[in-house]
Amino acid sequence: MSEPVLSIENLAVTFPTEEGELAAVDGVSFSVMRNEVLGLVGESGCGKSATALSILSLVPKPGRVSQGRVIFEGADLLALAEPRLREIRGRRISMIFQDPMTALSPLLSVGAQMAECLTLHEKISQKDALAKSREWLARMGIPEAGRVLSGFPFELSGGQQQRVMIAMALMTGPSLVIADEPTTALDATVSAQIFELLSKMRGESTSVLLITHDLGVVWELCDRVAVMYAGKIVEEAPVSALFERPLHPYTEGLLKSVPVLTEERELYSIEGQVPSPLDYPPGCRFNDRCPLAFDRCAAEEPALRQIADGRKAACHLADKRM
Ligand SMILES: Nc1ncnc2c1ncn2[C@@H]1O[C@H](COP(=O)(O)OP(=O)(O)OP(=O)(O)O)[C@@H](O)[C@H]1O
Ligand SMILES: [Mg+2]
Repeated sequence: MSEPVLSIENLAVTFPTEEGELAAVDGVSFSVMRNEVLGLVGESGCGKSATALSILSLVPKPGRVSQGRVIFEGADLLALAEPRLREIRGRRISMIFQDPMTALSPLLSVGAQMAECLTLHEKISQKDALAKSREWLARMGIPEAGRVLSGFPFELSGGQQQRVMIAMALMTGPSLVIADEPTTALDATVSAQIFELLSKMRGESTSVLLITHDLGVVWELCDRVAVMYAGKIVEEAPVSALFERPLHPYTEGLLKSVPVLTEERELYSIEGQVPSPLDYPPGCRFNDRCPLAFDRCAAEEPALRQIADGRKAACHLADKRM
């Protein structure tokens, strides 16, 4: 197996609220390997975005990383001072967010912003930077790249803005791209184009951490998957193994909820809800929703452990299900 580009170790992210401390991420560990696309999946509110934001110290205050390490190229990013982090952000690690408007400045032309993102990080003339930006916009499937470059973000559609942002994240050739629901604002065709591009990046020595709700995209694009539930990783496996034989009943529920993967006419959905991060239940956090739960599940929290080569799961029944 190749070496890790990024290792997250025992990460915890908390938000103080009026009702107490909210544990959005609660002891998460996983690695992204060189040249792989790792999918991070799980229902809404499980802590996927909070995990992603903590990597580059972008958790919005008063939220904070209360525990853990984020090792990238030999250094703990959480221990780095802001100027060093800024050097890494955008050049070595890029982030693609859901909402493009938060990432683009309304005051500068698209071309100026794209070119700056290149000239800031490498020795390249303004003219070459603009040419490269135009090339990347074309790769993103934006026709009229010239007009887009000389315009301002507000003159673009949401989907165009999103593609500008994705181009900016990819064109510096980062070692790691963190993409959090990157194509939610885009229609299916453009979305497919962008996923194809992301998967090509892998061959250009870029690793991708892809957060998505869409297990179809995971199947198409990812090498491995980490499944998150209630602030924890509950399963980790190569994509084909996970789809073939999910070890955690939560993963199985997620897979059954994908329309194309099930023969049932009625769409399945996991009963019940993700527990509140203010008040996780004792034992396994999935036990009240789990069709296989037995006494031990409410009493003892299963640790995430290795079940087979490359496969981890946090379920008391995982060995039997293997
Ligand atoms: N700024 C914040 N202040 C307070 N609580 C927050 C904040 N951001 C996130 N949370 C809480 O932390 C938990 C994890 O949120 P997070 O955004 O990481 O979920 P997610 O898995 O990305 O969900 P989604 O799939 O909906 O994007 C949720 O309970 C959420 O309400
Ligand atoms: Mg999110």
